[in-house]
Amino acid sequence: MADYDLVIAGGTVVTPADMFVADVGIIGDKIGAVGFGLRGRRSIDAHGLLVMPGGVDSHCHIEQLQSGGGADEESWVTGSTSALAGGTTTVITFSTQFKGHGILEPLAEYRRRAAKAMVDYSFHQIITDASDEVIFNEVPQVVASGVRSLKVFLTYDPLHLDDRQFLRVLAAARRTGALVTVHCENYEAIKWRTAALLADGRTEPKYHAWSRPSVLEREAAHRAIALAEMVDQPIQIFHVSCPEVAEEIARAKARGLKVWGETCPQYFVLSAQDMDRPGFEGAKFMCSPAPRDAAASEGLWKLVRDNVLDIVSSDHSGWSYETPVGKRLHGVDAPFSDIPNGVPGLGSRLPIVFSEGVSKGRIEPCAFVRLIATNPAKLFGLYPRKGTIAPGTDADLVLWDANKRVTITNRLLQHVIDYTPYEGLDVTGWPVSTIRRGAVVMQDGQVQAEPGTGEFLARGPYDLIRPTGNLPFGFDASAFQV
Ligand code: URP
Ligand code: ZN
Ligand code: ZN
Repeated sequence: MADYDLVIAGGTVVTPADMFVADVGIIGDKIGAVGFGLRGRRSIDAHGLLVMPGGVDSHCHIEQLQSGGGADEESWVTGSTSALAGGTTTVITFSTQFKGHGILEPLAEYRRRAAKAMVDYSFHQIITDASDEVIFNEVPQVVASGVRSLKVFLTYDPLHLDDRQFLRVLAAARRTGALVTVHCENYEAIKWRTAALLADGRTEPKYHAWSRPSVLEREAAHRAIALAEMVDQPIQIFHVSCPEVAEEIARAKARGLKVWGETCPQYFVLSAQDMDRPGFEGAKFMCSPAPRDAAASEGLWKLVRDNVLDIVSSDHSGWSYETPVGKRLHGVDAPFSDIPNGVPGLGSRLPIVFSEGVSKGRIEPCAFVRLIATNPAKLFGLYPRKGTIAPGTDADLVLWDANKRVTITNRLLQHVIDYTPYEGLDVTGWPVSTIRRGAVVMQDGQVQAEPGTGEFLARGPYDLIRPTGNLPFGFDASAFQV
């Protein structure tokens, strides 16, 4: 008699801690057992494949509303399709505030749009205007609704917060029990440098990197950490582009601060040189912080191995190359400062990290699982429901052919964006099947999921992001009420 609805038989199970040959028995949407000789009503032969937790992409932009009206080209259906094709079953995307407005209404609109998702999902709430109403009334409601992370930008018009506004967000997060994630670059210095470059006629995409060198990312990361330390509020530094920024995180961790770091595949395989391609082509590689160079990429791997960088997310931010609403929003002669930032990466995240990391011998498979699934789940309050393989957890799995060699093309990635910055990149390791809460939703590149089958993940309080209780410099919590 069968004990399980589905058995994944004979694969090499990779957990955050261990790797062993076993069967995985699934009952309904949960893992029922990991063991030997499990019998299921259905069975999938996984001999020769790795069986890993479904990817958790804790930083991607999907159907994000734009200040001028409309939303990102990547919809929930196309974004989910790309995620599932690439082995990712959970995403955390963003709800944006527009300056002068609140955060409750946009969040309701994001929830309405996400009802079409085919992956499980949650949101980070972006704060661009730290008004009294938002800080004292709306943030508590948003966090109580399960959106337990806030994102702030220390640069970008019109998103950036100054230090005082940033402190108000940190304090609000401390009061409500949320994690603060930070885009670290120095606003004023980038403005100053951009003005100088443009005045000198240096307008091409490659000057994007010149306008925001790594020292400005390091300065902002250092400042973000110092201000978070003053408030005793845990933070995560998003999209770390180079070792010198990660070293700020290493120092903070060594001092016992709750500071975590995220990097992205673009910082492993792209460089500032890519933005120097002829004509407008360099725009395809423009994202912020800017990709650096090969030495920086190699240096990031060491900081991954040293557990300084905890997460590799995609920062999928889709702007097509050919469409008038994408990279050429302001025309192909637009100066670099007017070209939308961001690169697509939902579907390519796991293959690139596996290939560059595991296949090239830089990390072990368990470390890969920690980076792309376990740590994002833990740091954002989704663990153990997501991010591991154990009885009682959601049956989110990716069956992986570690030896399959693939040359990445945009078609394989199945997003709506009309290009990938990784076109022609050879990878070793590719997803064969994706299972989301017990259902096979991707097989050999064919995504078979119905819009609306993704679930909203309300995130309750969790220990990892509790303040340490060390309030330096004579501060106490009563100092945070302004
Ligand atoms: O260039 C980037 N990273 N675009 C996406 C928005 C952000 O800063 O995360
Ligand atoms: Zn950012
Ligand atoms: Zn982003």
